[in-house]
Order: sequence, then C-alpha cells, then structure tokens
Amino acid sequence: MEDVIIKVMIITSSPNKEGLTENCGEAAKNGVKDGNGESLMIRLNDKNILNCNACDHGWGTCLQENNCKMDDDFDDIHNAMGTVDAYIVITPVYWGDMSESAKAFFDRLRRCESSFDPDNINNIQNKPFICVAAAGGSGNGTLSCLSNMERLFLHLNKMNYKNITNFDYIGITQRNKSYMLKSIQDSAKKMILGE
Ligand SMILES: Cc1cc2nc3c(=O)[nH]c(=O)nc-3n(C[C@H](O)[C@H](O)[C@H](O)COP(=O)(O)O)c2cc1C
Repeated sequence: MEDVIIKVMIITSSPNKEGLTENCGEAAKNGVKDGNGESLMIRLNDKNILNCNACDHGWGTCLQENNCKMDDDFDDIHNAMGTVDAYIVITPVYWGDMSESAKAFFDRLRRCESSFDPDNINNIQNKPFICVAAAGGSGNGTLSCLSNMERLFLHLNKMNYKNITNFDYIGITQRNKSYMLKSIQDSAKKMILGE
C-alpha cells in the first residue's frame, strides 16, 4: 500500500529573512522531513495581505460565503490551507503579541472560518497545529503572544475545547534558541507521526 504523505503548511510572519523566525521555520521544515512529511512554506511578509475592512455593519462575505471579497493574496493562502493536513504558525513576538503581518492574515482567517461548513474546500478545522512565538533576549511577552495564538485557534476551531486539535505551543527566545530550535523540529516530527 502506498504511504500517505502528510502535508504541513508552515506560516511565518517576520520581515527578516535571516532572523529567529526564519530559523524556526527551517527547524519546523526539518521536523516535517524527519517525519517523512511535505512542507508548504508561506512567508506572510512576502505576500500582499490587506487589513480587514469589517465590511458593511461588521460582516461581509466572510460570514455567508467563507471567503473575503478583498482582492489580494489572502484567498489563495486560505484555499491552500484546505489542501494540507496540519499547520505550524511561527511569529516574532512584537509588543507581546503576533507581528502585524500575522495579525492582518489571521484577523481575516478567523472571520472566514466563523461559520463552519464541513463541505467547504477551505476547511481548516480539526487539523493539528503548532504555535511558535519567537521573542527577543528578554522573552517578555512570549506568554501573552502564545495566549493570543491560542485564542485565535480556539476561534478557528469553533471554541470547541473538547475537539481542539492543538498539538503544541512553543516559546523561543534569542537566549534559549540553542536548544529550543531542536524542540520545534522534534515537535513537528511528532505531530506528523501522530505520536
Ligand atoms: C516592534 C518590535 C516589538 C518587539 N517586542 C518584543 C517583545 O514584546 N518581547 C520580546 O521579547 N521581544 C520583542 N521584540 C524582539 C523580537 O521578538 C525578536 O527580535 C525576534 O527575534 C524577532 O524575530 P526575527 O528575528 O524573525 O525578526 C520586538 C521587536 C520588534 C521589532
């Protein structure tokens, strides 16, 4: 029988192409490879993602049609999310929160996923995910950033705490990266292998 290849989307959201976020992305990619999976890398800062307009009185096509009517790269990434089996989201910690590019993307994603339709090809729910917050030397705000990421994924999973498919939440700083990068790699591998 043919082996099923697990596809993982790795989303990063830093302007720096050689920074800690990028290092984490590489570690995640290596972990996916270790588990014989396939990675799809998305660098949000290379994409054109506009801020949500909060159309009409607060909801636009996001509520009724599970898509966004703004014309940029959002829909392509959202559609691609439906074709993979798991996610690893890595953001630098800015002001104890996700970076602006992550917020712009995920603000819109949670809207488009707010009315769950199991037949929707964009369906991203009930798939495992790992959240990584990559901070500076102090690491201050790593926990609030991870907490906001948890909140985001709870919304994406319809606030259903029982079925939530979180696999890991990892905080990494400039100080602990010598050993935490390996943890990201191991976590990605473990998620793929379903251990
Ligand atoms: C606008 C801004 C805000 C930041 N806020 C925090 C913070 O709250 N806590 C922290 O530990 N580091 C903070 N940092 C440092 C970054 O999280 C750190 O440099 C991280 O490694 C950036 O990822 P990168 O190497 O991919 O750019 C901030 C950096 C910037 C540019």
